[in-house]
Amino acid sequence: SGAPRPRLTFLGTGYLGATYAICFAELGYEVIGFDVDQAKIERLGKGEVPFHEPGLDELLRKNLAGGRLRFTTSMEEVAEFGDVHFICVGTPQRADGMAADLSYVESAVTGLAQHLHRKALIVGKSTVPVGTAEWVEQLVRRHAPGESGVEVAWSPEFLQEGFAVEDVLRPNRVIFGVKSEWAVGLLYEAHKALFDLATTEDREVPVVVTDFATAELVKVAANAFLATKISFINAMAEICEAAGADVTMLARSIGYDQRIGNKFLRAGIGFGGGCLPKDIRAFQARAQELGVGEALRFLHEVDLINQRRRQRIVQLSAELLDRPFGPNGPDLSGTRIAVLGATFKPNSDDVRDSPALSVARKLTRSGADVYIYDPEGMDNASREVSEATYSKSIVDAVTGADLVCVLTEWEEFRNADPAVLGEIVAGKKVIDGRNCLDATVWRRAGWEFRAMGRPA
Ligand code: UGA
Repeated sequence: SGAPRPRLTFLGTGYLGATYAICFAELGYEVIGFDVDQAKIERLGKGEVPFHEPGLDELLRKNLAGGRLRFTTSMEEVAEFGDVHFICVGTPQRADGMAADLSYVESAVTGLAQHLHRKALIVGKSTVPVGTAEWVEQLVRRHAPGESGVEVAWSPEFLQEGFAVEDVLRPNRVIFGVKSEWAVGLLYEAHKALFDLATTEDREVPVVVTDFATAELVKVAANAFLATKISFINAMAEICEAAGADVTMLARSIGYDQRIGNKFLRAGIGFGGGCLPKDIRAFQARAQELGVGEALRFLHEVDLINQRRRQRIVQLSAELLDRPFGPNGPDLSGTRIAVLGATFKPNSDDVRDSPALSVARKLTRSGADVYIYDPEGMDNASREVSEATYSKSIVDAVTGADLVCVLTEWEEFRNADPAVLGEIVAGKKVIDGRNCLDATVWRRAGWEFRAMGRPA
């Protein structure tokens, strides 16, 4: 019934592209996922998601079997197949500074444009510096064969790892940055099933139709705001530590004001991951290029607050273990520390710029013997930090430990029984780096308990 649905392709099958490809197939579209990484494409084609994301494996296998979804390394196939091509490749921080590396965007766009012999819409989804969409349009003009009538649009995404399926299928808003009526119309068709799903569930998905630059900025502005909110509460944690106050009570109390809101006010060892840290840096770099660097100078402070929280754990460890401070900071040699958590947040296997892993590394550099356990992040972590020992379970990691540091708030750690763990450690000392444990229960079990921004 109705017009045939546009056929969709997703270029880049990382967290973003793979999740989108799978979820849009689930919505009923015919979809191709593309990547230059042959191994990744083969795994996806066999029904294996190459990263940990709850619920995604199931949807992948279902839609592969349903015949709506396939994966390829052939750009010709992608160009021939798609009406709408979503660019979902990574934009990591450049090795030479704070700016974003756009080389993957460039090669995806030029690679695709060369093969485009029919009218199509290229839609950017990757997080990029403002101005990138205009540049992509130039690239397309230069590389697409004449007369093909290829247009560009920008539609940033806001999915959170661990909730990616839900965030894609039920977004809290959709942004279309466009230059033509044709592009808006096609974007609506490419999201129609998503809007229909909302209607059947009695929800609404707000749609903002705007220009390229605003659409690009929505994404980085949102992430900058979230990072600022976290650093704000972590700055309050520093104050609480100095004043003997409790930041968790403070956060709860200010969060009741709906203008402030209670989300993203969890004080701890700060934000990490593949997005917030690099996005606030790239944003500052771009603002500088635009001659308005001063406008984002506060993001430098947001970054510094965030880094200080990681160092705080090392300092707390030295305090708890009664270790001296040398000229290069605390000396933790001869101590054994269990680090629970390696991923940048729970329900993920992602260790990119992980605060937990960064603290683990600092602890080893201060001389401690560090034993790490994480429910999902062990493989990725051991590739990043080789100076630590990797344990098979919580029990393995904490056996004989002088100090236990909980650095990612996995449910498995929150449910751990302090009485049981108390039997196998060398010293009943614990630091809750995420304010995720019940202090009363741990203290009652005889533990010396310290947390972030809370009284000793
Ligand atoms: C973030 C944004 O939340 C998404 O909206 C965005 O789409 C995504 O980046 C992206 O740019 O792709 P994500 O990186 O998956 O999502 O993780 P978050 O849930 O935002 O957490 C980021 C970090 O902040 C984690 O290390 C987390 O532990 C930390 N955090 C979060 C806190 O320390 N306190 C909080 O209250 C909340």
